[in-house]
Amino acid sequence: MLENLLSESRYTVVFTGAGMSTESGLPDFRSSKGLWKQKDPSQLASTDALNHNVNEFIEFYRERVLGINEFKPHKGHFILADWEKRGIIKSIITQNVDGFHQLAGSVRVAELHGTLRNLHCQTCGKEYRSEEYINEEYYCDCGGVLRPSVVLFGESLPSEAFDFAIRESEKADLFIVLGSSLTVTPANQFPLIAKDHGAKLVIVNRDQTQFDRYADLVVNDKKIGELLNELNKV
Ligand code: APR
Repeated sequence: MLENLLSESRYTVVFTGAGMSTESGLPDFRSSKGLWKQKDPSQLASTDALNHNVNEFIEFYRERVLGINEFKPHKGHFILADWEKRGIIKSIITQNVDGFHQLAGSVRVAELHGTLRNLHCQTCGKEYRSEEYINEEYYCDCGGVLRPSVVLFGESLPSEAFDFAIRESEKADLFIVLGSSLTVTPANQFPLIAKDHGAKLVIVNRDQTQFDRYADLVVNDKKIGELLNELNKV
């Protein structure tokens, strides 16, 4: 079924969440072993945490920066990059901040929630590489605190990525969600925008989502890596 949808489609857009990177070794957020099962995001991944809980904030994000340097894109990331080169997919809208799609060679990628690959000073905005956190450098030359260039709860999404995601969702005739619980707005609106503009919607996710009822196809019984590998052989 999905291979037919892919071969019939003229403009396929892929939307990824943390489930795309669990097979690389990175935890997701809301499944049974997810990050938010052990920690409270509002106490860590928020501007409030940055302003009032800075040591715990830095410790939490240093762990995650170490994670994206320890783990690597898996075969599924490379298959999506190859599919972009072959025209099978046109773009990727990702909620992930690990940079694995670009590391695997994908080019047309919108990072809705920013990236853990860079830091910037909360005071003057000067940009740094996230290696500063690995080297335990947490402050800017100006004295301001360095924070990852990710979207924290309470912050708005980067407009360029957001606008790109809207345009791609409106152009899609096939919109494939890979590994997202679709619980966080406004990111979870893009599958609906695509559907509203006539796209077929496919949701590949181990757990059920609140949007399954809008999908033309739901795949719960296959891991993303396994499914992409099978499709790549067709
Ligand atoms: N194959 C298929 N599905 C998987 C796999 C896999 N290998 N691994 C995990 N999943 C599914 C889980 O069942 C889960 O429903 O991926 C989904 C990931 O959902 P979340 O953990 O909620 O991650 P995500 O949807 O990306 O979260 C969105 O929340 O905390 C914020 O900014 C953070 O970008 C993140 C946003």
